[in-house]
Amino acid sequence: MPALIEDIRAAREAALADIGAAATLDALVTVDSEVLGRRGSLGRLKTQLGSLASLDERREAGRELNDATAAVTDAVAAKRGELAGNARAAQVEDERLDLTEFLGKPRRGRAHIVTQAWERLEDVFVGMGFQVAEGPEVETDWYNFEALNMGATHPARSDFDTLFVDHRGAPAGTTVLRTHTSPVQIRAMQAGQPPIYIIAPGRVFRRDTPDATHMPVFHQLEGLVIDRDISLADLAGTIEAFTIAFFGEGFTSRLRPSYFPFTEPSGEFDIRTPSGQWLELGGCGMVHPNVLRDGGVDPEEWSGFAFGFGIDRMAKERHEVGDLREMFTGDIRFSEQF
Ligand code: PHE
Repeated sequence: MPALIEDIRAAREAALADIGAAATLDALVTVDSEVLGRRGSLGRLKTQLGSLASLDERREAGRELNDATAAVTDAVAAKRGELAGNARAAQVEDERLDLTEFLGKPRRGRAHIVTQAWERLEDVFVGMGFQVAEGPEVETDWYNFEALNMGATHPARSDFDTLFVDHRGAPAGTTVLRTHTSPVQIRAMQAGQPPIYIIAPGRVFRRDTPDATHMPVFHQLEGLVIDRDISLADLAGTIEAFTIAFFGEGFTSRLRPSYFPFTEPSGEFDIRTPSGQWLELGGCGMVHPNVLRDGGVDPEEWSGFAFGFGIDRMAKERHEVGDLREMFTGDIRFSEQF
């Protein structure tokens, strides 16, 4: 047997042994290049084929070399599969979570004070006959402004530091993070015929720098009533009934003239604490006829009122939190106090 063939067989055996012994994927890659690479053990032997004297010898040695290369290639692939499987199994074992593991005394969670206020407000209004409605947090310019009697050039738009978003296909500046819950007024009118008695609590967004009394993300509660012969007296009475139901006996409310494009007349409403202190709570007014029309409601037949106020502010006052930012740090030590 020519020496070259013996060398090929020896290289093949050595390579298979090394592959069998490789303990990691890295080690396997090293073996692979040391054998099959151009300067590897089998690669080098290939260059010696030309030195064999006869065609038969070259043919035999060539076949031997091909067999060896195929055997080593197969062995590398098989070993790679095995090592990868082991690595996955080790990772799974490593990341295994024992869901029955018990790490001492369980801690009872709590609802955030904004959630608590939100839920209590819903309870009070549902008790007064309102239904809870919802709208999307990402709105179109039309719902957020246009349909609320604020056309493209309306100066009141600049009261809202709007966050515009890019939305597939929509022209720039036509999709916004809603700046208030008032667009739900329009959605509620479109969704069903009057009479309408809804509240719409939800998250709203304005381009504000966070400070003790402002957050760029906050919560409002919108109210909308549409029925026959609804007057300002109904608005004032509803606000007063709500004030007593939510804050308790001894509290009272008042309306002050104000301006909103989507209500006419418009007001701010305040509540008076039993100690005589007045707190400003929110905006309100009789729904503007243009807004009724945008919602598909005939202003000759129906009238209504709307109001809106901040939920976070109520939670802050109720629990005497000094700084609004504290409420949104996600610190469990804060939440545990309430
Ligand atoms: N949307 C107004 C605001 O965010 C509040 C409001 C609601 C006023 C409904 C009137 C009627 O300031």
